[in-house]
Amino acid sequence: PHRPTPLVAGNWKMNMLVADGRALAAEVAAGAEGLAAGFAVCPPAALLPVVGEAIRGSKVALGAQDCHAKASGAHTGDHAAALLKDVGCTYVIVGHSERRQDHGETDAVVAAKAEAAAAAGLVPIVCVGETLDQYKAGEGVAVVETQVDGSVPASASADRLVVAYEPVWAIGSGLVPTTDDIRAVHGAIRARLAARFGDAAQGIRILYGGSVKPGNAAEILGVDDVDGALVGGASLNAADFLAIGAAA
Ligand code: G3P
Repeated sequence: PHRPTPLVAGNWKMNMLVADGRALAAEVAAGAEGLAAGFAVCPPAALLPVVGEAIRGSKVALGAQDCHAKASGAHTGDHAAALLKDVGCTYVIVGHSERRQDHGETDAVVAAKAEAAAAAGLVPIVCVGETLDQYKAGEGVAVVETQVDGSVPASASADRLVVAYEPVWAIGSGLVPTTDDIRAVHGAIRARLAARFGDAAQGIRILYGGSVKPGNAAEILGVDDVDGALVGGASLNAADFLAIGAAA
């Protein structure tokens, strides 16, 4: 079955101002041209137009970090998926663990956001991942399976969906699971997607995220069922981000 081109997405989180964001995006756009992987950058929402302009005409796609589940309306401070699409986004991250933790987002909320994203023509990057306590208790795979079942909306289509596995304890910590752990979880995610989408699940990108750096990227990206990376800290440096992309 068809295997997807790897995708390396940079989640800038709540970092960068206008000038450094524009410069980083331009450097990524220039450096990505010769590389085989697909690329995306996901700046803070207020930077989307600036970054979109900086990557215009390049192979780097634009992504947002969150959207609202409703199409429009009285939701102060939130962003409609249609607006994100309108300012040039291809992707939107939904259900990042920082939003699950800081904003109480449940699987049902994440699924509603992913559905709104798809309805607006965006590809949702649906994030899942277990906490350290769950990992230590040997519950990682089960937790992630439940999150996949609950966070990927019933209406999802396999060709408009990305899933990202981010163990909460590996985010920003410098800790990474063993390749055996990553293989087991990605395989389990693929199996849950196959139960839903059949053969088409083979074409869904399952990204790994959590302390991906130039030094560990090749090993992680070489694991079965790892179709790219969702990169936080290392995406704030163009050389590091591009080196990860070169390993994909
Ligand atoms: O979404 C990416 C992220 O949570 C991973 O962050 O800094 O560990 O690469 P980092």
